Amino acid sequence: MKEINVALTGGAGQIAYSLLPRLISGETFGTDTKVNLRLIEIPQVVDKLKGTIMELIDCGFKQTGSLLATTDIKEGVQDAHWILLVGSIPRGIVVDGKKIEERSDLLRINGGIFTGQGEAIGELAQEDAKILVVGNPANTNALIGRTKSNNPTQSWFAMTALDANRAKAQLAEKAGVDIASVTNMTIWGNHSPTMYPDPYNAKIDGVSAVEAINDLDWIENEYLPLVQQRGKAVIDARGASSAASAANAAIDTVKAVDSQTTEGDWFSAAVPSDGSYGIPEGLIFGFPLRTSDQGSVEIVQGIELNDFAKSKIKVTTEELLSEKEAVKDLVD
Ligand SMILES: NC(=O)c1ccc[n+]([C@@H]2O[C@H](COP(=O)([O-])OP(=O)(O)OC[C@H]3O[C@@H](n4cnc5c(N)ncnc54)[C@H](O)[C@@H]3O)[C@@H](O)[C@H]2O)c1
Repeated sequence: MKEINVALTGGAGQIAYSLLPRLISGETFGTDTKVNLRLIEIPQVVDKLKGTIMELIDCGFKQTGSLLATTDIKEGVQDAHWILLVGSIPRGIVVDGKKIEERSDLLRINGGIFTGQGEAIGELAQEDAKILVVGNPANTNALIGRTKSNNPTQSWFAMTALDANRAKAQLAEKAGVDIASVTNMTIWGNHSPTMYPDPYNAKIDGVSAVEAINDLDWIENEYLPLVQQRGKAVIDARGASSAASAANAAIDTVKAVDSQTTEGDWFSAAVPSDGSYGIPEGLIFGFPLRTSDQGSVEIVQGIELNDFAKSKIKVTTEELLSEKEAVKDLVD
């Protein structure tokens, strides 16, 4: 059996609880790969991970390798091939007597976390390590982590696959088709309500989703808010943020990055911009991506963007630039 080292922060959180069994069951990295899992948590909750590890052992998967719980990011990411940065400080938490409500405060607090994590990853993880940031604000956390890692051979991603899955599901429901009929979904920009889920270039059975649905008013005025606000709708209904679907999206992303993309299709994640589509270089931006047969992940070129798309992409780009500005001392 092959072996892979996978590190995950936020191991005691609710996304991790859905994610962990699927990381070591053969589903994510293949049935021929043993997964050594390192779970990284803050000191206050690291003991809870002992219980999680007992459960993972009790799952009895043949692909389960060593299981480690640690508060030490360096121990966690040493020689890691994949690193899933799920842990972060949520809005509403009290830090040093102050309730964190403002996005700028959230950015700064998480910026501190992702500085140390980025440095450890750059220094200690595999030279071709792949890093997926799930913890919010995901794009800017990834920007900070990647900058601090200072290691250009590693690949950083921020997760937009949950948005893409939501965007596909809403199109499928509206069109009355199976979700498998919906392909080529892009989430342009930030994982935030400014994201642009692209219905013009998404396809339903090979035809533009806008054409297939043939209801422009719904597309431009109802569809976008439905996808952009879906996270809030889940919180309102469930009393907690998306966890099973977020875990599923993380697995979708790992699998999409690690396997050749189906001919003609693409997948969605945020990666450092190389200037494609006029997006400022280095911003961690949601793009359409393909993994080649050689395993490299490339931004799909030549996608047509109409004025509606351009106006939406401008808004999300500006938001990411202002997030970057809020943490500029960490990313310059
Ligand atoms: N990108 C997306 O699509 C997406 C979707 C859903 C949720 N999220 C984000 O994912 C994150 C996790 O969500 P959750 O529901 O599991 O939250 P949670 O609060 O249940 O768990 C987060 C865990 O992270 C841990 N943590 C905090 N700081 C840490 C650090 N420095 N090192 C290691 N662990 C640390 C906490 O102790 C906690 O156990 C949140 O930021 C959430 O907003 C992103």
